[in-house]
Amino acid sequence: MKNIVLIGFMGTGKTTIGRLLASRLGRPFVDCDKKVEYEIGMTIREIFERYGEAYFREKEKDMIAKLSRYNNAVIATGGGVVLSNENMRRLKRNGVIITLTASVETILERTGRRNTRPLLLNIFDREQIVNRLLSERGELYQKADFSIDTNSNSPQHVVTEIMIFLRQAGYLRGRG
Ligand code: S3P
Repeated sequence: MKNIVLIGFMGTGKTTIGRLLASRLGRPFVDCDKKVEYEIGMTIREIFERYGEAYFREKEKDMIAKLSRYNNAVIATGGGVVLSNENMRRLKRNGVIITLTASVETILERTGRRNTRPLLLNIFDREQIVNRLLSERGELYQKADFSIDTNSNSPQHVVTEIMIFLRQAGYLRGRG
């Protein structure tokens, strides 16, 4: 069975939804950022601080190459995974791509709860940065098989909608 790959901006709920979707489907859940953190032995924030973004992107690319060889998994990606065509080509080859979206207000609220995201740290105007990144990446997030808004829908509802899509599109067989 193909992987189910969640893409989307920071704070759109990829990890929360991914975990829930995996448990509803009885499939393994993998989080690309967590895998990179584990492999390097540092948090994403520490990796950015010590080695810079370009280094992180290389490690992220290597991890995506590995995860793309999985089968049957639910994969949550980091928000910047779409910046590499190679990442997306690999993920698509063996996966169905689902974009999660949220409004700028929701993104600011969710990402403001923790200071784990280096791109949004120590910044005077976070809203401006979020808007800039969203406009740079907007089109890339649209290259998905299915897209769902997470603003006002509960995680349970979002997961149900994704499952309806997967079943209708023929990605699920039998129960699940
Ligand atoms: C990033 C998103 C983060 C993480 C890193 C860079 C991005 O993941 O990979 O901080 O470029 O959007 P989340 O989307 O899970 O926050």
